[in-house]
Amino acid sequence: MRAVLIHEFGDPDNLAIAKIELPIPGPDEILVKVKATALNRADILQRRGFYPPPPGSSSILGLEIAGYVEQIGKRVENWKTGDRVFGLLAGGGYAEFATIHKDIAMAIPDELSFNEAAAIPEVFLTAFQALSYLAKLQKGEQILIHAGASGVGTAAIQLSKIIGASSIIVTASKGKHTICEKLGANITIDYKTLNFETEINGITEGKGVDVIIDFLAAPYFQKNLNSMNFDGRMIMLALMGGATADQVDLKNILSKRIRVIGSTLRARSENYKIKLTQDFKDFALKRFVTGELQPVIDKVYHWEDVIDAHRYMESNQNIGKIILNIS
Ligand SMILES: NC(=O)c1ccc[n+]([C@@H]2O[C@H](COP(=O)([O-])OP(=O)(O)OC[C@H]3O[C@@H](n4cnc5c(N)ncnc54)[C@H](OP(=O)(O)O)[C@@H]3O)[C@@H](O)[C@H]2O)c1
Repeated sequence: MRAVLIHEFGDPDNLAIAKIELPIPGPDEILVKVKATALNRADILQRRGFYPPPPGSSSILGLEIAGYVEQIGKRVENWKTGDRVFGLLAGGGYAEFATIHKDIAMAIPDELSFNEAAAIPEVFLTAFQALSYLAKLQKGEQILIHAGASGVGTAAIQLSKIIGASSIIVTASKGKHTICEKLGANITIDYKTLNFETEINGITEGKGVDVIIDFLAAPYFQKNLNSMNFDGRMIMLALMGGATADQVDLKNILSKRIRVIGSTLRARSENYKIKLTQDFKDFALKRFVTGELQPVIDKVYHWEDVIDAHRYMESNQNIGKIILNIS
């Protein structure tokens, strides 16, 4: 089969399509003929050599796929050849074929295209996990979502709305505010011109928000702590701004009983991902059919243009997902 390979760690130009061995599905896996995959920030880190795949996973880029079942493993009873499936991978999506565990694959609702399905797994499962499992966001609570127009951010806004957050506040650059508001954000903060800590203080009358979804880490750590309510939960999903925070005043963690929780989905166990997928399916799939939830697609590239797609993501212009069509 053909797959996108990294010739040398570094810039997007190091990506090229080449021929490699077809993966063989294990007894509990299915082999999928991939029709669409999607980019994630993790792909950029991996391409640069900073984010190796977990042990035992494919070293090919690509954390999600949508396509047809091509072949089933010998213990698989819930899928047959030709079924339309989508789901999360620990790697291997930028390829003509990929293997996925039978219980991590989900059936694509008839109403969704392969492109739409490929836009869902990584960002929606990450956001669902962060809000439901980690933050345990409750109806009536206030949430601050950083990078609101990112793939994960756009999913988190929609899920927070369904859970019933009383106020969904996001940070994003100005040109991305309208889409965040359309998806359900009540208040948008242009973090490039405003100090979000001051804004949150004003919006919540000094109380702070109950939940923060953070991707920036170091430069936001103190401001996040200062923006939290009693019993607040700060969920850290990335280190986009850096991993080392100097001179942090930790007082609020103690006095406000704040919990700081970090997580990376890719490194979670297979059993965890199976449970997460099942819970997500029950919660979300019907909502994609009614339109209550929607995959947010910014651009679709043919996979031969993968270099352009990576450059586009690195330019921070995207709102939601960048898709690769594989044919
Ligand atoms: N831990 C996990 O399990 C997990 C899973 C999936 C993804 N992630 C991480 O989550 C992050 C988002 O991923 P994604 O694929 O959704 O990214 P994405 O769609 O590429 O969006 C990233 C966006 O972040 C925004 N941004 C950059 N600096 C910002 C700042 N200072 N304040 C607010 N927004 C800022 C940019 O938009 P603006 O124009 O608004 O700045 C940029 O477009 C990545 O770091 C990714 O690695 C973690």
